[in-house]
Amino acid sequence: MSPASISLPVAVVDPDQSTRNRLAMQLGEHAVPFPSITDLEARLPGTPTVVVLGPSCADDPGLFGAEELLRSRPEVGAVLVANELTTELFQRAIRVGVRDVLSAPIETAQLNDAVRRVAETLSVMAVNAPAASGTAPVTGELGQVVTVFSTKGGAGKSVVACNLGVTLAIRSDRPVVLVDADLQFGDVAVMLKLAPQRTIVDAVGAIEHLDATMLQDMLIRHEPSGLLVLPAPLEPAFADQINAEYMTQIIEILRSFCSFVVVDTPAYFNEIVLNLIEQSDDVLLVAGMDIPNIKNVKIGLQTLRLLNTPMSKLHLVLNRANAKVKLDVNEVERTLQVRADSQIPSDVAVPQAVNKGNPVVLDAPKSGVAKSLEQLADMFLPAEEKSKKKR
Ligand SMILES: Nc1ncnc2c1ncn2[C@@H]1O[C@H](COP(=O)(O)OP(=O)(O)O)[C@@H](O)[C@H]1O
Ligand SMILES: [Mg+2]
Repeated sequence: MSPASISLPVAVVDPDQSTRNRLAMQLGEHAVPFPSITDLEARLPGTPTVVVLGPSCADDPGLFGAEELLRSRPEVGAVLVANELTTELFQRAIRVGVRDVLSAPIETAQLNDAVRRVAETLSVMAVNAPAASGTAPVTGELGQVVTVFSTKGGAGKSVVACNLGVTLAIRSDRPVVLVDADLQFGDVAVMLKLAPQRTIVDAVGAIEHLDATMLQDMLIRHEPSGLLVLPAPLEPAFADQINAEYMTQIIEILRSFCSFVVVDTPAYFNEIVLNLIEQSDDVLLVAGMDIPNIKNVKIGLQTLRLLNTPMSKLHLVLNRANAKVKLDVNEVERTLQVRADSQIPSDVAVPQAVNKGNPVVLDAPKSGVAKSLEQLADMFLPAEEKSKKKR
């Protein structure tokens, strides 16, 4: 019943946004929605993948597209969800290579069962495709975009994002901005004890005329560090006003005058997160040190491969990694087949700092956890440069 027990990346295709999002939600946080088969095809990495085709794909062009896809991509297994399941449609779908046809509205358990069956038949194939290097390296004066992501809530994304942002802001001689892209439940402002007047909603409201100067005015400054923050909407309902395209534009403007744009995200894939991951120079994948977290990260990694995310820009951050937890770091690395770039110990200083609204790197700078967060920042801007670059 649990969507998490599907062991392969899952994509959902339907031109209708609410339909594909609803199906993706039923499939759990790893399912990635796409508006068309063409969009999906551009992202397929060549590893086994389950594709759920929504009701809008159950027509002639949709089935034609499915046939092309399934013929050229033997590693893809498809399930079709149709509004009107006739014998004729069923036969046609099976003939074009779809493995199962279900009728809408579909129950979550039934949908997941069908997807799991297809996943099982596909999973004999190797899952370790080499990462494609698609994105061009960023050069010149453009700031580096670092997205902090995890498909598990409570993994420590916001703690990592805030402390990284603050540390880089202290070290850098150019502005550093932290964007709270957890649009519904963002808590960057609370963690940094800021009382924002303006948020990303204002930036989107002015998007037609938005430039660096206007956007600068909308940022709130974290005085102790100099970090600039673009806060999440003050109310979850406003999140709807922000789409992936606006977010991309805002990040591009920010990187035009900042040395680093750090982005905190929600705990699921949506179109905004997908774009952010693509646009980023680096993605920090935060994993808590327990079995559900690691299982989640494994599927998250496979999904990122599905998105053709170059593995070179992914960095695994193991949070709460210390002796008291029974999981061994080496074992986790073996399971995920990725080396951890950073290990952050569990420390009561973190929740204490969070409750004070003061990031732990400032609140308890001598603690082990602060030191490991400083080391994480070294990956982007080494501490030695501080003396050189300090104002
Ligand atoms: N290394 C750590 N040691 C102790 N507590 C931590 C640590 N990292 C995070 N936490 C606690 O876990 C809570 C959730 O972290 P948060 O960054 O808000 O997760 P996310 O943004 O991924 O949902 C925080 O309030 C913090 O108190
Ligand atoms: Mg968070």
